[in-house]
Amino acid sequence: MSLPPVLQNSLEIPVVGSPLFIVSGPELVIAQCKAGIVGSFPALNARPEPVLEEWIIRIKTELAEYQAANPDKKVAPFAVNQICHSSNNRLMHDMEVCTKHEVPIIITSLRPPAEIVEAAHSYGGKVFHDVINVKHAKKAAEQGVDGLILVCAGAGGHAGTLSPFALVREVKEWFDGTILLSGAISDGFSVASALALGADLAYIGSRFISTEEANADQAYKEALQKYAADDIIYSNLFTGVHGNYLAPSIADSGLDPNNLPVADKSKMNFGSGGNMKQKAWKDIWGCGQGIGLIDDAPPVADLVARMKAEFDEAREQFNAKAS
Ligand SMILES: Cc1cc2nc3c(=O)[nH]c(=O)nc-3n(C[C@H](O)[C@H](O)[C@H](O)COP(=O)(O)O)c2cc1C
Repeated sequence: MSLPPVLQNSLEIPVVGSPLFIVSGPELVIAQCKAGIVGSFPALNARPEPVLEEWIIRIKTELAEYQAANPDKKVAPFAVNQICHSSNNRLMHDMEVCTKHEVPIIITSLRPPAEIVEAAHSYGGKVFHDVINVKHAKKAAEQGVDGLILVCAGAGGHAGTLSPFALVREVKEWFDGTILLSGAISDGFSVASALALGADLAYIGSRFISTEEANADQAYKEALQKYAADDIIYSNLFTGVHGNYLAPSIADSGLDPNNLPVADKSKMNFGSGGNMKQKAWKDIWGCGQGIGLIDDAPPVADLVARMKAEFDEAREQFNAKAS
């Protein structure tokens, strides 16, 4: 097991609630951390720029107060996600704010994040970078990241195509840092499977969209409860990067989900202005193949308690079968 000190004895179950464009804000992050899993949000969700500092102060304050009032509870650290792409003109500003407030974990996406690693390490922060293949994993490891998030087949939003069995085992042959596994993980049984495979943490997105605290339309939450893995489409049309989306939301926007054109990669835009990405996540709903297990929108605390019970049951079943 390779967990940094900040994650040792601070988690109820080894889970990171992953950053979700538009969906994750302070309510969701605070609920996740109070429930004992890492909560995270994309810095770009805090708009305009000064809102980022307000969010970080609010999260830190509420978690510190909660920990003081509940000294025996495991309150998890939080993370901020930085999109490392040339179209993100806020990147260095956002990282300066994270450095000022010593955000415990920075999650980076897209480009290998040398300058982000340097900034985070200056105050003892940790950097986890998300990748979909070994080539990108090696590049990120060369930049000194502390953890690799292996985004495997079936993950919501931008996703890879590799089986977790292939990617986790291959990366573990040479990487000694923290390994997070992502893709269609929706319950405690899948969390236990991720650990059995060799991951240190499960990285879960879609399941948390259908919770009380998520900033998502009611219709989006209901769609997650209604549809299943067969309704997920893998396309690069909406942002220039391949990802998984809910087919009925594509159909509702007037497109044929089964005959989507291929996108122009040069049109990728992760900046703070209005763009295709904004439309993609607002009207065309991202979701992973783990959708079939979602059939309610509970408070995060209840969902995490349920996941923990499933996780414990999975471990018992495994031990019984293995013995
Ligand atoms: C609606 C949606 C928005 C997302 N936004 C982001 C984002 O802003 N930054 C990021 O790094 N990953 C983003 N992701 C990817 C997730 O952080 C995570 O990799 C993925 O949800 C894990 O797969 P799962 O949904 O099957 O659990 C998003 C995923 C979804 C479904």
